[in-house]
Amino acid sequence: MTVHFIGAGPGAADLITLRGQQLIASCQVCLYAGSLVPSEILTHCPDGARIINTAPLDLDAIIEECMQATELGHDVARLHSGDLSIWSAIGEQLRRLRKAKINFTLTPGVPSFSAAASALGTELTLPSLTQSVVLTRTPGRASSMPDNESLENFARTNATLAIHLSIHNLKQVVEKLVPFYGGDCSAAIVYRASWPDQKIIRGTLQSFKGGVSEDIERTALILVGHVLGNETFAESSLYSTDYDRRFRPGSANEEKKL
Ligand SMILES: C[S@@+](CC[C@H](N)C(=O)[O-])C[C@H]1O[C@@H](n2cnc3c(N)ncnc32)[C@H](O)[C@@H]1O
Repeated sequence: MTVHFIGAGPGAADLITLRGQQLIASCQVCLYAGSLVPSEILTHCPDGARIINTAPLDLDAIIEECMQATELGHDVARLHSGDLSIWSAIGEQLRRLRKAKINFTLTPGVPSFSAAASALGTELTLPSLTQSVVLTRTPGRASSMPDNESLENFARTNATLAIHLSIHNLKQVVEKLVPFYGGDCSAAIVYRASWPDQKIIRGTLQSFKGGVSEDIERTALILVGHVLGNETFAESSLYSTDYDRRFRPGSANEEKKL
């Protein structure tokens, strides 16, 4: 029997992979992570499935549910919001399952930072502006940050920043970033990307200095970087006529052969 960890995506019920959907439909037990997993996704569970919101459970209780299910010969769909690879707290669950010799699989999901970029209609890496995206957060009640992962250290790179779990710290975030990016650097807040009540607030670091007037808390991303709303970037050489592309007849390489 197997516990299937599944990235349930950023919120919209149809932003889940086909594999994830099919696995949910095949499991007699579904454990899902609270309010960030949309209830429509639970409609993929088979009739009679045991469906448990794990928000009020501790790690022991979650693992106990997995163990009981597998003892009964049931597979488990374990849903986490967005993608599993960032801030999903699966690390400790996997460690416990390995120890208990319970099989598991991981199915990726659409992360919230890419849903936010889509909502903004932007690419986060643009030629001549930046080629890196830093996925980070500020310290929270439950998690401190390693010393060398300060916002200032990431800001030195001037890469695009996707700052998670930090909307309550907006003023401090802005204060730390202005010396590196400048007050006129574009920034955006995307609240509940892909949910029906999604909100987007575009501005500059300076304009977010006093916080935001709208009632935005928790499920929001702060995006900062010179790529946002910037039309001055160079074109990618990938589609340039001079660029050698193996599969494009007439590319520089093909012409040299003639
Ligand atoms: C516990 S983390 C989960 C991240 C998730 N694993 C992912 O792949 O995006 C929760 C944080 O992700 C961000 N987040 C998650 N879903 C979001 C959404 N739909 N829109 C904006 N931000 C979101 C917020 O910063 C939130 O505080």
